[in-house]
Amino acid sequence: MKKINRRQFIALTGAATGGVFLLNHLWERGESSQVSLQAPINLPRLHKSTNGLLELDLEASYRPVKLGQKQAYLLTYNGQVPAPRLEVQAGDTIRIRFKNNLFESTNLHYHGLHIPVTGNADNVFVSIQPKETFNYEFTIPQNHPAGTFWYHPHRHGLVAEQLFGGLAGLFVVRGDLDEIPEIKAANEEFLVLQDFALDGEGNMISEAHMSIMAGREGDLLAVNGKFNPTFSISKNGLLRWRIVNASPSRFYRLSLEKHPFYLIATDGGGLAEVIELNELLLTPGERVEVLIKADKEPGKYRLLNLPYDRGGMGMMGGRGMMGGRGMMSGRGMMGVNNDAPTILATVNYDAPVKPVSLPRKLLSVPALPKHKQVRHFTLNHGMVPGQGMVFLINGKPYEPNSIDTQVKLNTVEDWEIVNTGVMDHPFHIHGNQFQVVSRDGKPEPYRAWKDTVLVQQGETVRIRIPFRDFAGKTVYHCHILDHEDLGMMGNLEIQK
Ligand code: C2O
Ligand code: CU
Ligand code: CU
Repeated sequence: MKKINRRQFIALTGAATGGVFLLNHLWERGESSQVSLQAPINLPRLHKSTNGLLELDLEASYRPVKLGQKQAYLLTYNGQVPAPRLEVQAGDTIRIRFKNNLFESTNLHYHGLHIPVTGNADNVFVSIQPKETFNYEFTIPQNHPAGTFWYHPHRHGLVAEQLFGGLAGLFVVRGDLDEIPEIKAANEEFLVLQDFALDGEGNMISEAHMSIMAGREGDLLAVNGKFNPTFSISKNGLLRWRIVNASPSRFYRLSLEKHPFYLIATDGGGLAEVIELNELLLTPGERVEVLIKADKEPGKYRLLNLPYDRGGMGMMGGRGMMGGRGMMSGRGMMGVNNDAPTILATVNYDAPVKPVSLPRKLLSVPALPKHKQVRHFTLNHGMVPGQGMVFLINGKPYEPNSIDTQVKLNTVEDWEIVNTGVMDHPFHIHGNQFQVVSRDGKPEPYRAWKDTVLVQQGETVRIRIPFRDFAGKTVYHCHILDHEDLGMMGNLEIQK
């Protein structure tokens, strides 16, 4: 491992000529006087449990990686962007020996898993200092649904920065959904959607040059760390895509030329039946599983990311109001992705197989009992003296030591989330999956398990959430991670 001081680092990366990058503000805050760029490493990209156990070493560090053909210097787990995929089954035990080789504190969150939120399981209050190790250990409940989950850092205040550096990986639980014959026969692929902002040398661009208020976005859109990768599909066959939006702020509005998506699973696992969609909107944190049917003319078809307006800062007053040009200038300032559609990937037809049909039935998604109490949450932003612009839930920015919401274990609640602001906010709850009941009073067309739900500007979304199995303190927040870091989070206590 090579250690370099700041001066050498700037010289090495050529940033002395006016470029500013991510790490600068750390030195300014006096948190670190050194950064270590480590050599590339070659470790497994997939870790599967065997005999009920998944055991692995996971290291977070700053390393050179290849993004497509591009040389980049990113934050990695085991030297990889995206991080290695973890695969388990219900009932398995997971042991992760985690080493923090970053220059700032971090931790791991297992987004979407229904596991303890305390101790050395999915505990976001753990803070692992640089050079420290932490042993995560937990068991996936026997009745845990199969699905596409993911892991990423969750150290409050640093989440957006670390995720934008590249720290994210898939956590797959296999089970009943994978055994449905048509799904089993489909060719399975994983799509980790990440965006990056790099300078000419491949260094991460500083957040001082990002629009933190809107939520930082990069102009490089990678799928599994590649630009426009090709996926093959056998003519007449089925392709199964498991997609995660692992970007800190960017929304993806996906469309595959000439092909509908057949939705089979959402955040928390399988649906009751296949839903046909021409477009998929995936906000940060959300996952979907879709089938694609190769029943068109053989050829190449592009997976596009279409424009989407997630609201902006235009109504928040003029320049300078935010106290620093970093807040107002730079890319994605308005949070509007209004350029031409971007090509994310290509689907290419292969030699034909015997026609495969779509599954007619999937899993059961039971209705939840109605609860008499409705809890209200209002999302907005505002000015707080001494803190500047902050993001608020029920008028308050996040306060680490307060309990904002207390619920009882083994109850079901309705939460009504109202967005009174001018930007979209994807609302996420840790530890328990919920169902969306209605949007602006209109019942949701189908039942599905979710852990992240988009609440658009001016919208009211009602969700129904059972608190099962695990007591303890955890969080809910906006999954535009800059908003989370800037206060749009609350502490949730699940009481025995
Ligand atoms: Cu991906 Cu607190 O979450
Ligand atoms: Cu989460
Ligand atoms: Cu938000």
